[in-house]
Amino acid sequence: MGRVIAIANQKGGVGKTTTAINLAAAVAKKGKKVLLIDMDPQGNTTSGFGIEKNELDDTVYELMLGECPIKQCIIPDVYENLSIIPSNVNLAAAEIELIDTDRKEFVLKNEVDWIKDQYDYIFIDCPPSLSMLTVNAMTTAESVLVPIQCEFYAMEGLSQLIHTVNLVKERLNPILTMEGVVFTMYDSRTNLSQDVVDSVKEALEERIFETTIPRNVRLAEAPSYGKPIIDYDPKSAGAESYLKLADELLRIK
Ligand SMILES: Nc1ncnc2c1ncn2[C@@H]1O[C@H](COP(=O)(O)OP(=O)(O)O)[C@@H](O)[C@H]1O
Ligand SMILES: [Mg+2]
Repeated sequence: MGRVIAIANQKGGVGKTTTAINLAAAVAKKGKKVLLIDMDPQGNTTSGFGIEKNELDDTVYELMLGECPIKQCIIPDVYENLSIIPSNVNLAAAEIELIDTDRKEFVLKNEVDWIKDQYDYIFIDCPPSLSMLTVNAMTTAESVLVPIQCEFYAMEGLSQLIHTVNLVKERLNPILTMEGVVFTMYDSRTNLSQDVVDSVKEALEERIFETTIPRNVRLAEAPSYGKPIIDYDPKSAGAESYLKLADELLRIK
């Protein structure tokens, strides 16, 4: 049965999508069967694999509205062992369109349950909000992985995020846990990155992944070539770090 992990942080630009694309690809590279679900209307995970997001008929939006069975939404083998359920800007309307739907917090979960046993890992890239889309990701997932950018305001919003995870756990999904936090865009040339890591470690009770993702320009370039970093530049520090993170995740059972 696949492990379902939501990659969430309501702050934008902290490395959720970069982590979703590259961790999913690295786990797939290690021989696991992976599905990546793009729950962000920005569709950056989708375009990060070179998929023309605005030309799609069957996306997460159609899935959420019950207009398309899940199997039909999956784009298979966008990379070896890796399939994706894409998204685009249409998804932004889903929240309003679902207002009168019964048990709207479980729409994604009910769909994913059909195909869960076909994958070893399912990653969900969340939008930068604590919206109904993120709640749907958290009811579908068994754990939440939180990328934290190594910058001054790193901790801002973190307690709100953890509170949301706890609320979802209490009321909607009793098995939900925090997978842990991953530091992203670590810059070894400044003291700030290390200061942020130290202070988060001190303040946080959650698991902190040993692997830290460095700031690496190759990671920022890769999406414009439609490739994960292990394909775009396998020798880069970014590729190495996401392969290490995948190893670390695979060790956790
Ligand atoms: N480790 C990194 N090194 C350099 N640039 C990065 C790194 N991680 C993310 N970025 C860049 O930072 C921006 C925000 O990252 P993204 O993954 O889209 O964040 P989010 O999904 O949380 O909004 C993007 O332009 C991305 O390419
Ligand atoms: Mg994103």
